[in-house]
Amino acid sequence: MVERGEITVRAATLKDAERIYALVRRNTDQLVPRSLGNIVESIDRLFVAEAEGETVGCAGYQIHPEIGSPEAAAVEIVSVAVKTIFRRRGVGRKLVEAVIEKIKKFGPKEIVALTFAPEFFGTLGFVEIPKTKIMHKLYTGCINCAKHDNPFTCPEIAMEYRGGAEQSN
Ligand SMILES: CC(C)(COP(=O)(O)OP(=O)(O)OC[C@H]1O[C@@H](n2cnc3c(N)ncnc32)[C@H](O)[C@@H]1OP(=O)(O)O)[C@@H](O)C(=O)NCCC(=O)NCCS
Repeated sequence: MVERGEITVRAATLKDAERIYALVRRNTDQLVPRSLGNIVESIDRLFVAEAEGETVGCAGYQIHPEIGSPEAAAVEIVSVAVKTIFRRRGVGRKLVEAVIEKIKKFGPKEIVALTFAPEFFGTLGFVEIPKTKIMHKLYTGCINCAKHDNPFTCPEIAMEYRGGAEQSN
């Protein structure tokens, strides 16, 4: 659990599933839409932020074993969303820090994000990388997205976490 001030970040439980669903659904311009069923089956890979007695944000991760050897799996930060009126108060930062703290324990080859919010991820130790570095993600995720002509002209930015020296590479 990560606590700072009045904002608490914790691992999600099934009781949070519908609220996470609503948060992601409200931000589908920036996030990949997720069904409630998908959120329920991924609940162990999601975190929520609470403030002033309500759920104000969520974030999660997805492991990508698609290429390379098992120990070279990448982990993607996904579904980072903060309620509009709670933005710019450090909620997103605490959520992503909690996700990174958890996934670093797995020793992933890389921690990546595909995002429309590069400034936000930049403050968290992520740097932009060429999309060609995450072809596995493009083949498994972006290929199912209908928003843009193709993954390479899509304005989403690919980023990789470089903030942790202890990350195994
Ligand atoms: C991106 C998002 C999660 C940020 O959440 P947040 O709680 O506002 O972020 P934080 O307050 O923790 O921001 C940390 C730092 O990131 C940077 N940052 C955050 N949002 C930013 C923005 N819109 N533009 C530029 N910098 C931004 C700032 O440096 C900020 O620190 P500061 O407020 O002291 O200047 C939120 O805006 C959101 O839900 N957006 C819609 C969904 C989305 O785009 N998700 C990310 C894609 S995976």
